[in-house]
Amino acid sequence: MKISVIGAGNVGATCAEVIAHRRIASEIVLLDIREGFAEGKALDMMQTATLNGFNTRISGSTNDYSKTAGSSVVVITSGIPRKPGMTREELIGINAGIVKSVSENVLSHSPDAVIVVVSNPMDTMTYLALRDSKLPKNRIIGMGGILDSSRFKCYLSLALNAPPSDISGMVIGGHGDTTMIPLTRLANYNGVPVSQFLSAEALQKVAADTMVGGATLTGLLGTSAWYAPGAAVGALVDSIVNDQKKLFPCCVYLDGEYGQKDICIGVPVIVGKNGWEKIVDIKLTADEQAAFNKSAEAVRSMNSVLATLTA
Ligand code: LAC
Repeated sequence: MKISVIGAGNVGATCAEVIAHRRIASEIVLLDIREGFAEGKALDMMQTATLNGFNTRISGSTNDYSKTAGSSVVVITSGIPRKPGMTREELIGINAGIVKSVSENVLSHSPDAVIVVVSNPMDTMTYLALRDSKLPKNRIIGMGGILDSSRFKCYLSLALNAPPSDISGMVIGGHGDTTMIPLTRLANYNGVPVSQFLSAEALQKVAADTMVGGATLTGLLGTSAWYAPGAAVGALVDSIVNDQKKLFPCCVYLDGEYGQKDICIGVPVIVGKNGWEKIVDIKLTADEQAAFNKSAEAVRSMNSVLATLTA
């Protein structure tokens, strides 16, 4: 099983490392436009193989997409990351052009791949990749919801003083500071609703911290985060490669589901060897549906910027 990761920056390199540590690929190709950069990262990782106990062959390439040929899954992380004070949406002008050309190059060498989009603004980049590639919709998956849910569960476990492995929870909607929707009503501590342990105010704080989870890190680090994004991609790719049928919130194309059409946005899906295989309808409350509609409106208005960029 061959997996390619496009973009060898912090996020892309961490994706490759997590995939190697999960021992789910025989081969990983890391590609970057910077001369020698992906080769260097790949060689550094290969030198950890005997220490970390993986047999995956990791190689790097400077913009030679023929090296990625025949990949089963391709993860696109290319583009500029946000800086402190920037929203994910402000990246659209530069990243749209990058994601468009990367997707074309990737698919010309791996026409059967499942594509995982990480580049921001992620919902719009997923929509762009789908629109331009005309791939079957189930083969394009935006990663944001798994990352946002992981942050949600982190803040819940801290507030509850509970082990993270006992926490379930999901974030749907757009992958933006104001568009994501932590589904507090459904979050639970080993099956018990979290509202039994935490006050409404405490839960509101968890939701608010989750929504700015990425921005908080950008402020602290001076650039976008990578450990949690890389881990989220690793979990997603594992479910595809091993046909695990994991239920994850992912950014996928909606055609009437959740009351929305012609948009890619985060909803719960089953992920297996064919990409996302099924959208799970979780019957939102009126308030949750209203928040989802508002989130979709914001994503749609971001998508409309594409027309001005790529016309
Ligand atoms: C974040 C970026 C990857 O949320 O979108 O950290």
